[in-house]
Amino acid sequence: MEIRLLHGAAIAPYIDDLARLRLSVFREFPYLYDGSLEQEADHLASYAESGRSLVVLALDGGEVIGASAGLPLVDEMSDFQQPFLAQGRDPASVYYFGGSVLLPAYRGQGLGVRFFIERESYAHKLVEFEACAFCTVERPAGHPQRPVDYKPLLGFWRNRGFLHEPSLRTSYRWRDREEQSPSDKIISFWVKTLQV
Ligand SMILES: CC(C)(COP(=O)(O)OP(=O)(O)OC[C@H]1O[C@@H](n2cnc3c(N)ncnc32)[C@H](O)[C@@H]1OP(=O)(O)O)[C@@H](O)C(=O)NCCC(=O)NCCS
Repeated sequence: MEIRLLHGAAIAPYIDDLARLRLSVFREFPYLYDGSLEQEADHLASYAESGRSLVVLALDGGEVIGASAGLPLVDEMSDFQQPFLAQGRDPASVYYFGGSVLLPAYRGQGLGVRFFIERESYAHKLVEFEACAFCTVERPAGHPQRPVDYKPLLGFWRNRGFLHEPSLRTSYRWRDREEQSPSDKIISFWVKTLQV
């Protein structure tokens, strides 16, 4: 297993691999995301264009089997900055964690923890950020697509020092696997204050 840390333009050659991986993992509950490679690649291009982005890449035998991304919140789409602005919080003080994905066979071996450590440590090194944040989709407890053996990640995130801030919420539009057309999903943020 190899871990690579990539910044800015160094991410570009991996965009297709990352897009494929994200689409396969985010098809599962709770995301249920049925996007296209093109949409994913477009979104990931903002990571390649940001001077302060980070992709933590996990490879096995040269194949990308996991990845985790981060960038300044001000370099993300404005929809994600809006809940912070609405509360008078400066998006420029936030380093945004843009998602971790790992193929199921590689889970439970510490890679997810490593993804958090690497992104937090990079955000800390950049000095200008007061907090790290990521968002999650809110699904009702009885959602018909929720697998019976689904294990929520709430404890995993709390163990990484993040607190759920349900008041930092917005909606984001995508098409679920079972949907005919896109609909708004409620997303809310988890935040961790960085120690000076
Ligand atoms: C989120 C995700 C990346 C986590 O990855 P993971 O590699 O399974 O997580 P880890 O193995 O690092 O950690 C899981 C737990 O196992 C523990 N663990 C890690 N290595 C271990 C080991 N060798 N032996 C036993 N336990 C271990 C961790 O400490 C952690 O427990 P804790 O929270 O009590 O500390 C993965 O579940 C995933 O891809 N999920 C689907 C996509 C998703 O929901 N992403 C998150 C939001 S974008």
